[in-house]
Amino acid sequence: MISPTLFPLFCALFLCLPVAIIFTVQREVTGVVSPEFGFRSLSVFSLYTRNVPDASSPAIPIRQPIPKDDEPLLRLASRVNPNQPPGSTRKLAFMYLTTAPLPFAPLWEMFFDGSSKELFNVYVHADPIRDYDPPFSGVFANRVIHSKHSERYTPTLAAAARRLIAYALLDDPQNYMFALISPSCVPIRSFDFTYKTLVSSRKSFIEILKDEPWQFDRWAARGPIAMLPEVRLEEFRIGSQFWVLKRRHARVVARDRRIWAKFNKTCVREDTCYPEENYFPTLLNMRDPRGCVPATLTHVDWTINDGGHPRMYEAEEVVPELIVRLRNTQPRYGEDGINGSDWSAIKRNDPFLFARKFSPESLEPLLGMAKSVLFNDSACGA
Ligand SMILES: *[C@@H]1O[C@H](CO)[C@@H](O)[C@H](O)[C@H]1NC(C)=O
Ligand SMILES: *[C@@H]1O[C@H](CO)[C@@H](O)[C@H](O)[C@H]1NC(C)=O
Ligand SMILES: *[C@@H]1O[C@H](CO)[C@@H](O)[C@H](O)[C@H]1NC(C)=O
Repeated sequence: MISPTLFPLFCALFLCLPVAIIFTVQREVTGVVSPEFGFRSLSVFSLYTRNVPDASSPAIPIRQPIPKDDEPLLRLASRVNPNQPPGSTRKLAFMYLTTAPLPFAPLWEMFFDGSSKELFNVYVHADPIRDYDPPFSGVFANRVIHSKHSERYTPTLAAAARRLIAYALLDDPQNYMFALISPSCVPIRSFDFTYKTLVSSRKSFIEILKDEPWQFDRWAARGPIAMLPEVRLEEFRIGSQFWVLKRRHARVVARDRRIWAKFNKTCVREDTCYPEENYFPTLLNMRDPRGCVPATLTHVDWTINDGGHPRMYEAEEVVPELIVRLRNTQPRYGEDGINGSDWSAIKRNDPFLFARKFSPESLEPLLGMAKSVLFNDSACGA
């Protein structure tokens, strides 16, 4: 017989069991969990496991921390569920790849301010050999993942992006779109607009261009036949380093070893070595071209090319008209994907959500027009 005092406990246990199982299954699939964050999605689970008596509780997997080394990190991330838990809130993962304190942190702070904390996650990859003064604070505090040294003309920037993706996949099963952001990049729409645009998209946004100038030299940067046979010249693509990937494509990246092994090779020619602009477009174009809108939603002006750097807006140029002009620009679409036809022919016109590069001194004018222009979706300029 069950004693009267134990009876409610058994009822509670009985009622909790399905919940506990659901969470157990979900966490097993996703591989679980960050030591310092990732608790939010676990709180219900933790509550029940604490209250359920040991002897009768189902086998509960011990939470393991997210691995620090790339190999186990990517291996675990490659096994996550590519779909979101049904019915759960879709979240945006904002992934900042930086080697310096984020100059526009106060602006991003305003961007996130007022939106529900349940709609996004922030991750920072910060090269450990640099100093970060002032330290990351506010939404960026305690969001730095285990990072490694990363520099241009090497595969280390692409490796850092892969690390961010893997970490974000494991950290929260509700992460649905994964946006890579540079420190010189700013938001040019409200959070609501950005959120709605991204979570309603059935496709990733990633610039995928072919037959660009220097295609051969970029392909051959690791040696004339180094990419063969996995990546033939005609399969090689070029695109902006900054993209927004769907969860299923984030997992494609985490799973990929074959193509990454090629792009992870050391370049013999530095001046044409931009793996971060080649690896992601090439891989996704090989694996799922139809699942990608072949354009970036991060505006950049390459009409001025300053030693491999695009135009940088100085503080005095940063006026409302600039922001409105950037918003009104149409993205450039790659030609792959829809039977080789021109994307502009199908009349797509996706909105730019972010823009770069802005000089650190632009912070002040940007903050000054944040509410009236940057985060005002109906602002139409003077
Ligand atoms: C990428 O290359 C570096 C340097 O050769 C190596 O240490 C690292 O293990 C490689 N990573 C992968 C995932 O192959
Ligand atoms: C692309 O080609 C396939 C097969 O040839 C066809 O079914 C489809 O309608 C085409 N799509 C477009 C947008 O032309
Ligand atoms: C947003 O922009 C519109 C159109 O330019 C303007 O009328 C309105 O006052 C702006 N809103 C804010 C909060 O500044």
